[in-house]
Amino acid sequence: MDGPAKIPTASLVDNLVYNLVHVIPSYLRGLFTPNRFWFTFWTAIHPDPASVKFITRLRKKYRSNYCYLRMLTTKSLVVLDPDGIRHVLDNSPDIYADAKLKRDGMAHFQPDSVTISRGDQWRERRRFNESVLETGHDLHRYGKDFLDVIRDETATMLKGSGGHLVWEDFAVLFERITMQVIFGAGVRDTSMTETLRQMMLESNRGFALSKSKHFDDFYAAMGRHRQEARGESLAALCNSVPSTAVTKVDNQITHWMFAMGETLAINTVRALALIAAHPAADERVRDEMGREDLSSPEGIDRLKYLEGCVQEAMRLWPTTPILVRETVKEDVLGGATIPAGTQVIIINSFSHRDRETLPFADTFSPDVWLSDSVDYRFNHLSNGPQGCAGKELALFIAKAAIATLFTGQRYTVERPPLDPSRPLPYLYNHYQLRLKRRDA
Ligand code: HEM
Repeated sequence: MDGPAKIPTASLVDNLVYNLVHVIPSYLRGLFTPNRFWFTFWTAIHPDPASVKFITRLRKKYRSNYCYLRMLTTKSLVVLDPDGIRHVLDNSPDIYADAKLKRDGMAHFQPDSVTISRGDQWRERRRFNESVLETGHDLHRYGKDFLDVIRDETATMLKGSGGHLVWEDFAVLFERITMQVIFGAGVRDTSMTETLRQMMLESNRGFALSKSKHFDDFYAAMGRHRQEARGESLAALCNSVPSTAVTKVDNQITHWMFAMGETLAINTVRALALIAAHPAADERVRDEMGREDLSSPEGIDRLKYLEGCVQEAMRLWPTTPILVRETVKEDVLGGATIPAGTQVIIINSFSHRDRETLPFADTFSPDVWLSDSVDYRFNHLSNGPQGCAGKELALFIAKAAIATLFTGQRYTVERPPLDPSRPLPYLYNHYQLRLKRRDA
């Protein structure tokens, strides 16, 4: 099935079905930030919201791991072959760079951010991101300070809530954690995250975007917060790590704000729900926690089973369901020549749930993550040179939040239901989350 010299093109009917049944619903669910109404609507009524069955049928019909499909009007190469996926990601962004839709949409709220940069600009911005986020290091130098913020804010949330926790509790919690990790302990005003959300909702349109009325105010507030940043925070580090006119420091921080304040919040609550719904996993998390000092960043770092649980939430319900690239020059992929300017897509929501190749596709399997090997079939944090620069920090914050929430507390998932004896659903609507809590 691998490596065709000529890549098949999907029929008109397949293109029509893909666009009407899959592309349009995911567009409405939100390209850059989930739209609560449409996310809830499509999750409730769509039989295959992650297009797993559709892509499985396509692969069988065309007997290929590569296929040209249209995403709306753009002809796109779908890459299902793990070696092909590795090739694309290992050559991002030098050959496989940011695609137009992503570039235009993200430029609305974070122009010049690393993820929509190319060539030398990308290299400089990536260097800066890696220096401040300490990419590749399990523990950030300010891990202890971040942990103290997480523990304080989590305690405040628990004190203020009754016997139940809902999405809104976690949304506020993560906005407060985000502001303090980025700008310093005590910076609890979250008006910037709200303004950013407004701009991201606008960017979901993806086309004909004019300058947001929030843009100047947002970046003025960003500049002020960064200048005032003191103590052990990412913004304070930004002021000491070398940067140039190309770096565009504030525009990099915007990406951290949405990745931490929203993406990470969604993934953390889903992991929490999965653990609570799987009693054996719940016990293993608690056993592991019992062996560590949870007030030390090293103790949090050593929670490897819990980390597997967080990775599993992301594998099962990837918050970046599709990675989109555009070839900047001609290349050979799977034995076929791909012209410059081709849009290339990697469908995480399919690859992560491919029942024909993954025995654990639809079950919660944290053990899969206990080995250190890198598997290019799973790209919820992406892989290769353009992989998530905040990976270690994100995993640390998620583990610290869950470990703190689990200390002295037990949870039951009231909704949306999760039944461990059945294949897990293709989407999980975090907006409807309701957890019952009781003393452990
Ligand atoms: C669970 C939370 C997170 C998830 C699921 C996630 C996922 C991803 C993914 C899939 C990409 C690649 C996107 C693409 O190539 O189209 C990415 C890139 C990136 N992420 Fe994350 N991320 C998370 C949290 C964070 C955090 C907390 C930060 C920073 C504090 C961060 C910083 C970045 C940066 C800077 C890039 C761009 C890398 C580049 O283009 O060179 N991420 N992330």
